[in-house]
Amino acid sequence: MKGVILAGGTGCRLRPLTRVTNKHLLGVYNKPMIYYPLFALKDAGIRSVMIVSGAGHAGDFLELLGSGSKFGMKLSYEVQEEAGGIAQALSLTEDFVGGEKVTVVLGDNIFEDSIREDVEEFSSQSEGAKVFLKEVENPQAYGVAKLSEDGKIEDILEKPEVPPSNLAVTGCYMYDPGVFDIAKDLKPSDRNELEITDVNNFYLKHGKLTHRVFDGFWGDCGESFDSLMHAASLVRNSHLSKIDENLNLP
Ligand code: DAU
Repeated sequence: MKGVILAGGTGCRLRPLTRVTNKHLLGVYNKPMIYYPLFALKDAGIRSVMIVSGAGHAGDFLELLGSGSKFGMKLSYEVQEEAGGIAQALSLTEDFVGGEKVTVVLGDNIFEDSIREDVEEFSSQSEGAKVFLKEVENPQAYGVAKLSEDGKIEDILEKPEVPPSNLAVTGCYMYDPGVFDIAKDLKPSDRNELEITDVNNFYLKHGKLTHRVFDGFWGDCGESFDSLMHAASLVRNSHLSKIDENLNLP
């Protein structure tokens, strides 16, 4: 299983904090934002990870993280020239993933749950995709899952005005290698992006999408100044604040 962290995009919602640095390098309590998705992948036993960054400040990722050897990981880098959407950023990693399965984490997402068991389970299944949901107070800001009475996902709606539930689709996804062909056939959305929600709905329509609801906290720090501050306080009060510079737990 390979890992991918998507850290492209423009970070425009957090200006002026992001004028001279990349959003994913901003501090969240005591570590740069990107440490958290990196730790989530390392904790899950994934060692080979590609980071996709935007063109601006791409060199700063290399300066901060290097080859990954100090974290016991092997890091590769790719640049997304334009913010063409999460699915477009993912498609840049096709050669790196090289026909394996892949766990994708958005670079501005922080979650408390370990995905170790999910990775083990997903590695042993033959095909499909898995998403992770979390109950939120403002579902209209996210992809939202519509669930049937027996708890299965029926549909995922991207930032719906009238959300069918309060279950947001978080920025952690697992895919079989077929994801790259699905991404090739996507059409840009109204916001002119290739949407990861369209990828997930493709798997759903083919009966190949599973999910789990996160128990612990989940924060999308990139949404607003308040979400950045909120994520920092959640980290401060959790085991994530104790991960050291080498991404080891004490
Ligand atoms: O955080 C979870 C949400 O992320 C999901 O619920 C939504 O379904 C999904 O569309 C996404 O929504 P956002 O509008 O919050 O995505 P945003 O544009 O903020 O991008 C999130 C991360 O994805 C960002 O930190 C970097 C990466 N990204 C984004 C874009 C648009 C890229 O790498 N390249 C891109 O072109």
